[in-house]
Amino acid sequence: VKLRERQVGPRSLRDKLGRPLTDLRVSVTDRCNFRCFYCMPPWGEVEFLPREEILSFEEIARVVRILKRLGLKKVRITGGEPLLRTGIEKLVAMVKEAGIEDVALTTNGYLLPERAKALKEAGLKRVTVSLPTLKEEKFKKISKGAELERVILGIEKAKRAGLEPVKVNTVVVKGFNEEEILDIAEFCRERGLFLKFIEFMDVGTLNGWSPDKVVTAEEILKKLSSRYSLEPLGKENPSETALVFRYRDTSLKVGIIASVTKPFCRDCSRLRLSADGKVYTCLFASEGADLKSLLRGGASDGEIEAFFRNVWTSREDRYSEVRWSFENPKKVEMFRVGG
Ligand code: GTP
Ligand code: 5AD
Ligand code: SF4
Ligand code: SF4
Repeated sequence: VKLRERQVGPRSLRDKLGRPLTDLRVSVTDRCNFRCFYCMPPWGEVEFLPREEILSFEEIARVVRILKRLGLKKVRITGGEPLLRTGIEKLVAMVKEAGIEDVALTTNGYLLPERAKALKEAGLKRVTVSLPTLKEEKFKKISKGAELERVILGIEKAKRAGLEPVKVNTVVVKGFNEEEILDIAEFCRERGLFLKFIEFMDVGTLNGWSPDKVVTAEEILKKLSSRYSLEPLGKENPSETALVFRYRDTSLKVGIIASVTKPFCRDCSRLRLSADGKVYTCLFASEGADLKSLLRGGASDGEIEAFFRNVWTSREDRYSEVRWSFENPKKVEMFRVGG
């Protein structure tokens, strides 16, 4: 029976739109040492979770083990800023031990210079670093005065530690960094980094988003094409979020995540777990399902598996495809569910 379950189980678990559950993004803390305006309001304006509300590494690892039985293949550790969570290397090792080969982490890079090597040794496969600007003064405004140099060093150390391919995320916001598109592209080309530009999204309710602040994928591509010859590539895997291109003069790729103008919900196989143990089936969800009370209320693995089956088979989210006809005044914040 066990073998049969293993063969049939994962393949049979589909949501209402036929999508499998292959990716988990775990937010390990809602705190951050930066304050990017497109993600979080200024210092002092939000309340963070108290320690006891936050899932332990053991609790997270248990969830991963159970989801693995349902077809999980990838785990991305996010925040807030995940490197603020003490000993996150331990969690990486635990997730790896649960049988997940593809363990990745998204970070603002500030703590990466000291941590890259230990993360690699713990079993981290890949890292994505956010790099919103290359201008020192602009950077300081969103990093609470932190040096851009540290983030660049973090990227360097990650490469040297073998956390390849190192990816870079750049959210493009009108009036903030759209004139830096070519500079950031060149910076990443010189260093062999896989850069993804991201359209500014209406995640949460605290980032002052409006449609006119979005620099569209088309505009980003036009800018890139003014300097580089790009070959559009097909999707390497169905859950890829980006439109991916190759610079014709190298084997290096560059991507554009067009969540606003070219949504990719059809292949969205991502489940999100917040630091306080809520489960979200969409980045734009208004509410999460309460997993923590199950975890802390003595539920068996079987009961937790049943909870996930229920959450996933009821799922029909496709916010990005319907955003213009869909007013969702209550949206979870990105720093609570992770990028
Ligand atoms: P890999 O594909 O695992 O290499 O990940 P990556 O580091 O390149 O990150 P990914 O492309 O998964 O995510 C990058 C950014 O895309 C995130 O920080 C979000 O801003 C955005 N994003 C990721 N997943 C989703 C999603 O499901 N919906 C929407 N609308 N945006 C997403
Ligand atoms: N729109 C698009 N991407 C965002 N990120 C944070 N806020 C937004 C937003 N409003 C991205 C950051 C970071 C990742 C965690 O999410 O660039 O790389
Ligand atoms: Fe922090 Fe990342 Fe949000 Fe910036 S985008 S405030 S670095 S969590
Ligand atoms: Fe997935 Fe929701 Fe993003 Fe669509 S909007 S890709 S359903 S997380």
